Parts: sequence; structure tokens; C-alpha cells
Amino acid sequence: MPRMEETCLLLILLLSGGLSTLPPHSREYHFVSQLMTWTEAQSYCREHFTDLVTIYNSNINQLLFSISPRLSTGAWIGLYDDRYSWKWSMEGKLLYVGSTHEFLIWANGQPDCANAKEYCVALQGQTQMDDRPCGASYPFLCYNAKNSSYILVKESRSWSAAQSYCRTYHTDLTSIRSKEEKSNITLTLNGSGVQYVWIGLYRDPWAPWSDNTTSPFTNWGSSEPNNGNSIEYCGDLNLLTGEWYDCYCDVRLSFFCFTAVTKQTVVKMKLQSEADMHSTEIQQQVSQQLSGLMLSEGLTDFRIRWRKVQSYRDDQSKKQDVDGGCKTED
Ligand SMILES: *[C@@H]1O[C@H](CO)[C@@H](O)[C@H](O)[C@H]1NC(C)=O
Ligand SMILES: *[C@@H]1O[C@H](CO)[C@@H](O)[C@H](O)[C@H]1NC(C)=O
Ligand SMILES: *[C@@H]1O[C@H](CO)[C@@H](O)[C@H](O)[C@H]1NC(C)=O
Ligand SMILES: *[C@@H]1O[C@H](CO)[C@@H](O)[C@H](O)[C@H]1NC(C)=O
Repeated sequence: MPRMEETCLLLILLLSGGLSTLPPHSREYHFVSQLMTWTEAQSYCREHFTDLVTIYNSNINQLLFSISPRLSTGAWIGLYDDRYSWKWSMEGKLLYVGSTHEFLIWANGQPDCANAKEYCVALQGQTQMDDRPCGASYPFLCYNAKNSSYILVKESRSWSAAQSYCRTYHTDLTSIRSKEEKSNITLTLNGSGVQYVWIGLYRDPWAPWSDNTTSPFTNWGSSEPNNGNSIEYCGDLNLLTGEWYDCYCDVRLSFFCFTAVTKQTVVKMKLQSEADMHSTEIQQQVSQQLSGLMLSEGLTDFRIRWRKVQSYRDDQSKKQDVDGGCKTED
């Protein structure tokens, strides 16, 4: 009979109340009456609590409303709109398009997210980028990966109709990932006379929140967000109505923070195996399987940690222990 080594695995699950899968009461909420810009408020919350609040549902909205004074002003929440957080349709990955890519140049004053409606990008004057309303109809530029060609479709369509067309007949709306790609595109457009042409760049407005989670719930006031004067990229909760407004981020307002209440659950497991449980590789495999199990149960916010335990041959008397005879040595 092979010698079986019994190893105890101490599985530490840290479940933080941070995610929307967990009930809102696992967070504590704070109203801070000091007046700060959105960024200052974010730093303050991160220093003293966990972060600016994320509002996942109307109960939380109501709770925040109830712990704040009734004033005709707003208080910052963790909602903000990052006008440089673009993605390529073809890749779906976040691509921060500031002003530094030499081959990705914004037209003067763009992106301006005019009227809080412009979440898709067209090339303007065939070379510079401009954020435009996704519903506007423009010619568009597809990319075909099979023969590495760029196809200008002169028929005008909305951005998403253009995307569907490109995905059906070619690969996708084109990306511009290098200087070479940009010059090929310029060549394709040269002489076409098009003013605006859709490319594959788009973004999700008002996502994620300050704590990097997202929420489908919104509570905008009527006609909000509107990006008045094209400078309103932070969200506040109106203290008279509980509705949300977009606002200039440098205005000084009071704000709401939250503290994540972390529940620590320690699960002890006894594994019997002929494999070497001290091997990092095997530990990783076990961790992966457990992670998969937890995720399939809808738990998304956890950490699995291995703790060094003494492994030794089991002895009959210890077998009666609730502990199963695990000894911990930290
Ligand atoms: C590449 O393939 C597409 C789709 O078949 C076609 O429309 C396009 O003309 C081709 N381009 C070149 C340069 O072969
Ligand atoms: C684009 O142009 C360059 C030359 O500037 C060439 O090497 C490349 O194959 C072209 N095609 C694509 C898909 O970028
Ligand atoms: C556009 O095409 C014209 C000729 O049709 C050419 O003279 C010009 O250099 C081209 N421009 C670019 C940027 O390739
Ligand atoms: C935010 O979340 C996304 C996906 O949920 C993740 O890819 C990204 O690394 C996170 N960013 C930070 C700063 O935590």
C-alpha cells in the first residue's frame, strides 16, 4: 500500500462587501460635509474610508439621501466619465487615448463629449479623430484581416450598423494601432472626399465608478447628464431630490464615502493525496479549481491563500478532533 501523506490545507476566504453580488449592508456609508473637488474627495475617502460611494440600487440611493442634510446643492458620488477611456471594436480592450499617441490625433478641442452624447469616433478631414454621436450616419472604414486590406464603405450608417456590416462582410471596423496602419488608412481615404468616416473606436459612458466597479442602476435628473459647457465629467447626488447631475469636477462639494466591511471566513480542509501538497504547482492547481467553484457559486470577491501547515502521518487519537489534526505554523 502506498504511503499516504495527509496534508492539511487552510483555506482563507476573504470576502469583502465590495461587490454588487453581495448585499448593500456589507458597506457602511458616510456623509462628509467638507467641501472638496471630486479628486480631493476621492483621496479623502480612500484615506479615511474605502472610496467614494458606488450606488448599485435605489435602496442605497435612498440611504445616502437619508443620512445627508436637505440642501440645495449636490454631494459627490463615485460616478465619473473618463473621456479618454476608449476601446477598439476589434479588440474590446481598454485603450487610454490621451494626447500622446503620435498616430492618434484628436481634432482641436476633441474629445468634447458634446451634450454627453458622443461615444463613438470618426476620422474628421480623413486624419484627425473626433468623438461623435453614435447614431449619426457616416461612411465607414472596415478592416479585412484575411487580405489585410482597408475597405471604405461610402454608404452612410450609424456606428453600430457600420460595425455589423464590417463584421458580416469583413473583420470589423478598423483599428489604428500603428503609424503604418494610419498611413495605409490615410492612403485608402485619399481622394474619397469623405468628411467624417467611422472607425472602430468607442467607449462606455459613466463606467466604471471610483472603486472600479460598475453598476447598471442610474438615477439621473431630467435631461441629465448633459455635459453643460463640455466640462461636466463628475457625478453628484442632489441633496434636495436624490437625483444625479453631471458637474464640473473642480467645483467644491460635500461627498459620500463608503467603508467595505470585510468578512473573513476561514475554511479548513483536509486533503488526502499522494501528490506533494507543498509543491507550488499543485497548490496553484487546487486554488484554481476552488476559484472556479466559488465563481460558479456567484462569489466574485475573494482571495485564496495557502498557509504553511505541518504535515504529518495521521494518528488515530487525533482523528477524533474536530480539527482533523491540522496544526498551523504561521
Ligand atoms: C479583400 O477581401 C475583401 C472581402 O473579400 C474584398 O472586398 C477586398 O476587395 C479585398 N481587398 C484586396 C486588396 O484584395
Ligand atoms: C500598411 O503599410 C505598410 C507600409 O507602410 C505595409 O508594410 C503593411 O503591410 C500595410 N498593411 C497593413 C495591414 O498595415
Ligand atoms: C493623395 O493623392 C494624391 C493624388 O491623387 C497625391 O498627390 C497625394 O500625395 C496623396 N496624399 C497622401 C497623403 O497620400
Ligand atoms: C478595474 O477592473 C477591470 C475589470 O473589472 C480590471 O481589468 C482593471 O485592472 C481594474 N483596474 C484597477 C485599477 O483596479
